Order: sequence, then structure tokens, then C-alpha cells
Amino acid sequence: MIYDEMKKKLEGYGQQHLLQFYDSLTDAEKASLFSQLSEIDYSLLTLIGENESMSRGKITPIETLTQEEVNARAEHFYDLGIDAIKAGKVGAILLAGGQGTRLGFDKPKGTLNVGIEKNIYLFELLVQNLLEVSRQAGAFVPLFVMTSEINHQDTTQFFKEHNYFGYPSCYMFFFIQDMTPSVDFNGKILLEDKARVSLSPNGNGGWYSSLLKAGLLKETCANTLEWLNVFSVDNVLQKIADPYFVGATIESGCASGAKVVKKAYPEEKVGVLCLEDGMPSIIEYFDMTEELMYAKNQNGDFSYNYGVILNYLFRIDELNKLVSDRLPIHVVTKKIPYINEQGEYIKPDAPNGYKFEELVLDMVHQMGTCLPYEVIRNKEFAPIKNRTGVDSLDTARDLLIENGFTL
Ligand code: UTP
Repeated sequence: MIYDEMKKKLEGYGQQHLLQFYDSLTDAEKASLFSQLSEIDYSLLTLIGENESMSRGKITPIETLTQEEVNARAEHFYDLGIDAIKAGKVGAILLAGGQGTRLGFDKPKGTLNVGIEKNIYLFELLVQNLLEVSRQAGAFVPLFVMTSEINHQDTTQFFKEHNYFGYPSCYMFFFIQDMTPSVDFNGKILLEDKARVSLSPNGNGGWYSSLLKAGLLKETCANTLEWLNVFSVDNVLQKIADPYFVGATIESGCASGAKVVKKAYPEEKVGVLCLEDGMPSIIEYFDMTEELMYAKNQNGDFSYNYGVILNYLFRIDELNKLVSDRLPIHVVTKKIPYINEQGEYIKPDAPNGYKFEELVLDMVHQMGTCLPYEVIRNKEFAPIKNRTGVDSLDTARDLLIENGFTL
């Protein structure tokens, strides 16, 4: 596209400032900037200012498979799950494309050392967990690691340097998620430097389309796969391809399963699993009304009492039916480094703009059916999100020690 055409196009979207430094660029930089500008989905900009929660359907409680119920049928669930893993039906998806802005760690989050007297990395803990399941099943679970353009190189290098923490590398696959532009509070796309638009990973909901795009399901052992277990990088007590969870979800006949924990208190900031117009759905804590938060059932228990922990099972045949359906796009406030009009690099201390993200929690709604599966919080949920305080490295270390780990 020639300069005049691009200028006109950008003017149409109120984004002509993106060519502000054009004259000072080399030919190669100009070409690269144009290629970025041509690939941007400018329709995203119209989402700014829309009220997401306005369009919610009728919310009712969903029934959870409680720990007590799991325990009563534990052996049966375990056998079912182990058989599925043994038959190569279960794959694992590690979501590691996030930027961990709250933690403020500038390397991939999975490379964080959670050890005290020895080195134990987040990635290592996850792999150890998967190795144990593989040992029990006598079969390796293929592990697909989603990275972003920003951390792909560092992530793959780290795994290689550590010899994949003992997992056979032929069962480990890496793929890169898509990127979307970041904008300031006025909807102006930000520049990362004079020749580059500020792009960020498109949220953890883009994992399946990015996995398909990478062609990995076709290339690998994946013709036996029926289920994918999706989980986050930052929960140090994460159980991956948990045979009990796999067995219970298969038995339920649902197209998906979600691990949930009992909320610590009604106001806790976790996404809550419920039914929306009869379909499973997750309400984010900021969308919980007081009425929902404090609603009680006939037994006097809170009706919306279970929060998700980003550990889901999805049936692949159902995912394939849904690939052409677009997930809702969330406009999320974040701290985004950028260059100002004078070309100076600014690293903000407070949120200064928006990113556009698809979220894996919306896939649960799309799948139509979901088994909420209760796990014990102190045994399976120790996320590292913040630098200090709640859900930090300190709280995660305490929980690891409580669960018998030597750090
Ligand atoms: P979070 O929602 O906690 O986001 O991700 P984050 O980027 O890690 O951290 P903040 O919000 O910037 O502080 C939950 C999981 O989803 C992954 C993360 O790597 C983490 O495992 N994720 C998030 C992606 O894989 N891609 C994304 O675009 C966003």
C-alpha cells in the first residue's frame, strides 16, 4: 500500500498519528510499520466504551460436583481418567503467553524461581506434576505451551537449557498466540517505538485458534486426542491432566469441566461459575451484583459459592464445532509502555490504556455444558499474580511448604 492510501485509511479511523515519525524511518522500518498497520483489526476500536455487562442473560445457580461427592466415587473417576490418559486421549495446554504485568517480572512468568534454598522454577513445578501423572498412567501426556511473540524466544530457550525438566521433548510443543494493538484511554493506538505499533497478546481465549493455526494438532500424536486440559502458568499447586477430574468430566457427559474452589468469603475477587440462560457461564467478580453475591439457597448456603481457578477440560469435537464463532472481546485497562509525541519512551506507573483480550472463561459458555468440579483450595490453588500480599510469591511459597514441598 502506498503512503497516501495508508494515510487516508488511518485518518478514517482517527489513527493518523501512527505515521508521525514515518519520515525519519529507514526503508526497512517503513516497510515493517506498513506491514503491521495493514494487519491491524481496526474494528476493535469500536468496542471501547461499550458496557459489557449490559448484555447478560438470566443468571441462576449451577450444581457443583462437591469434594464429598468426588471422594465417594474417587476410585471410579481415577480409573476412567487413567484409562483415557493411557489411550492418548488427553492433552495439556499451558497458557504462558501473558505478560504478568501485576507481578512486574520482565521475563516469562514460568521462569520465576519459587525456591528459597534451591532453584525451583514455575515451569519446573508444572512439568514435575505432569511427569507424576505420566508415571501413574504409563503414558506421556502431550504438552502444548502457548507463548506470545514477546516471550517465545526466552521461553523455548529456558526449557531447552533445562533439558525440558525431564519431560521428553518429543511430547512438548510450543505455539505463539496472536497479538492485538494497545490503545490509550482516547482510543489512539500506541507506538512502542517510532517504527513499531504497541502490540500485546490477545488474551488467553485465543489459545485454540492459535493452536489450530500452528498446525500442531495435525502434526503430532494428536489423532487420538479427545480432551484438552487448559491451565495457567502461575498456580504452583496446579494439577495437570488430573485423572480424577478427567474421569469425572468424561462420566458427566459434559463438553467441558472446570475446577472450582469454595469462595473464601462472598466478596472474594474470583470468577464465579453459574448458569446464564441455562448455559454454563462465568461471571467476573466486578460483574457480581450484591444480590447475586449474597443470594442463598434452601440450605442456607451461598448460591454462587464456587470460583474458577483457570483449570478447564474441553472436548475437542465440541471445540471444532465452535472455531468459527467469535469469543467476546474484553477491553482491559493496563499499564502500557509507549513513546510520546516527542518520541520519548514512557513506562507508566499507573494504567494508561486498554488492551483487547479474548478470555478462556468465555469458552465455557460456548461449550454449552460444563461440570463444575470442586477441589480443595489449599491443595490446588496457589496463584502468583501480585508482587506482594494476596496471591504473591510469599503466599504461594507458604502453600507449597504446607503441601510438603522443600524449597
Ligand atoms: P492473567 O489473566 O493472570 O494475565 O493470566 P497475565 O498476563 O499473566 O498477568 P497480568 O494480568 O498482566 O498481571 C492467566 C493465564 O493466562 C495466560 C497467562 O500466562 C496465565 O497463565 N495468558 C494471559 C496468556 O497465555 N495469554 C494472554 O494474552 C493473557
